[in-house]
Amino acid sequence: MYQLPKLPYDFNALEPVISAEIMEIHYTKHHEAYVKNLNAAIEKYHEAEQKQDVASMIALSQAIKFNGGGHVNHSIFWTNLAPIGMGGGEHPKGELSHALQKKYGTMQYFIDKMSAAAVGIQGSGWAWLGYHPEADCMKIVTCANQDPLSTQGLVPLLGIDVWEHAYYLQYKNVRAEYVKNIWKIVNWKNVEERYLRAKK
Ligand SMILES: [Fe+2]
Repeated sequence: MYQLPKLPYDFNALEPVISAEIMEIHYTKHHEAYVKNLNAAIEKYHEAEQKQDVASMIALSQAIKFNGGGHVNHSIFWTNLAPIGMGGGEHPKGELSHALQKKYGTMQYFIDKMSAAAVGIQGSGWAWLGYHPEADCMKIVTCANQDPLSTQGLVPLLGIDVWEHAYYLQYKNVRAEYVKNIWKIVNWKNVEERYLRAKK
């Protein structure tokens, strides 16, 4: 059974960038639902497997992809963020910083590029900074819906959730403003830890 991971801060800790109301609903309703539906789909999948019902297994794998992706993505997202004054927005200084500057020139250019990718997603989805193990390089990519980054062969380092549930109550239709502000609460320490782990 998969479980909702503990949120590493209070619901109001990411204010003013993300309101407590959004955080509470996002975590206790949306993420919770992905976990619940993932567990239910896996249980049904096992039942279908017992009956050697391949057609049902294939149909259920869609629900596993969607809800499992939702669970995986949000579990990363919460740790990718940190309150202002507690690491949020403080740019990396070590190996990740060197790698980003080598690839994108400046941090600002990287931020602008990933922001543009996030803002440009049609409908619901995620923008990611991912690491490609074979090519030993980082890449900015987008995923539709809750497709996990592993479907593109990349290890997730930093994700921006641009589903409307992530910002609409506070930013209304202005996704660009939400994306601009989220950089103030990016937990670069967490992103760097993920980068170093992925490189090993
Ligand atoms: Fe979300």
